[in-house]
Amino acid sequence: MCNCISKKHNIDSLNQPSSSRKVDFPSSFLWGAAISSYQTEGANYNSDWYLWEKKKKIQEAARAANHYELFSRDFKLAKELNLGAVRLSFEWARINPKPGVYIEEEINHYKEVIQTLKILGLKPFVTLHHFTNPIWVAESGGFESSKNIGHFLEYLKRIVEEFKGDIQHWSIFNEPLVYVYNGYICGRWAPGVKSIRIARKVSSNITSAYIEGYKEIKSIYNGEVSSYVSLVNHIRKFSPCPNFNFGQNSISACLKDKLSNFGIINYLTKKSCLDYLAVNYYCKEYVKFKGLVGAECMHQFHKERKNYLGWYIYPQGFYELLKKFKHYDLPIYIMENGTAEIEDSLYKDYLSSHLQSVARAISEGVDIKGYFWWSLIDNFEWDYGFSPKFGLIDVNYDTFERRIKPFALTYAKICKENRIEI
Ligand code: BGC
Repeated sequence: MCNCISKKHNIDSLNQPSSSRKVDFPSSFLWGAAISSYQTEGANYNSDWYLWEKKKKIQEAARAANHYELFSRDFKLAKELNLGAVRLSFEWARINPKPGVYIEEEINHYKEVIQTLKILGLKPFVTLHHFTNPIWVAESGGFESSKNIGHFLEYLKRIVEEFKGDIQHWSIFNEPLVYVYNGYICGRWAPGVKSIRIARKVSSNITSAYIEGYKEIKSIYNGEVSSYVSLVNHIRKFSPCPNFNFGQNSISACLKDKLSNFGIINYLTKKSCLDYLAVNYYCKEYVKFKGLVGAECMHQFHKERKNYLGWYIYPQGFYELLKKFKHYDLPIYIMENGTAEIEDSLYKDYLSSHLQSVARAISEGVDIKGYFWWSLIDNFEWDYGFSPKFGLIDVNYDTFERRIKPFALTYAKICKENRIEI
């Protein structure tokens, strides 16, 4: 690791007019990559997504990347890439496939996973809920039913008690708004509901589950060891669609920004139950006026490059949002940032332009502690199936062979040197 230079020096180097400059990150900066259980492990047949795939006849995760068996190989590759941390999730349905039933072998499996990370010197960041529920929970109403708040808290308690000695950073939920939007407003994801009323209920139950879960984790740790608890929020740069109705589109974009990027964070910081801010940033969304909160507006005249999934790539928006998080005065972890592309050079561009945004925000006083690329390995991208490839590591889904992608070597160099060249 190189010597860290001061913030002042960072600012200066960002303003220098020379052709290639080096910008150092703080010496304690954590470099990582993220995955989630359902998207990588395979054979999660007790999860509600498994039923959803069958019902909708969409591509099935099936054995996914077989990370369940190959986790140790994947973490060794993470180490080869000079990462210092891995973000992963535990699959609630594996551990607790029936009401009140906890499977020791599965808890032990995750113990092995965490031990493997620790032996390799990789810091584990664990998410307890990343979009999937046990089938029995889904069949009894998922988070629409307040009874399931209790079931979720029972699972949380069991896991945190088991793992408290080994894990400091917990995320209770991943992207609740994305989960509620896709599952309960547009109906694209399980359980396929389209109802604002139900979406509100689910959202409020998840928020209550979070607050109770936060208190539970704090009481389990009881101040003996430090614990850091948060909820991962998806943030996007919302811009008004510039075609017609610009004035109204601006109101909708502004509202979306307020509600979606900051709403839950404002609420939870007021309740004093976020120890750090955990954010995922991918792209920009153009908003057109439709109802007050607006709708997404996709047009070929938007000037930004689109990635493989048609998302507008806009690193400047990342910087602008990070700057807005400064006033919360909480440490920030970027829990996911990444892209799916066909060409390696586009991954490289994305990586370097987004890291420049991170570096710039740090140089302007934003307390960003770490960065996780999404994802460590190629994985199952929900209703998109396996075709979008976000991984640093390519997975052959027939043989489960792994291959480090060329752009991952660029990331490895950044992680090792703790600096970027701009
Ligand atoms: C989700 C991941 C997903 C990624 C890319 C994020 O919003 O947390 O599960 O794979 O986006 O689509």
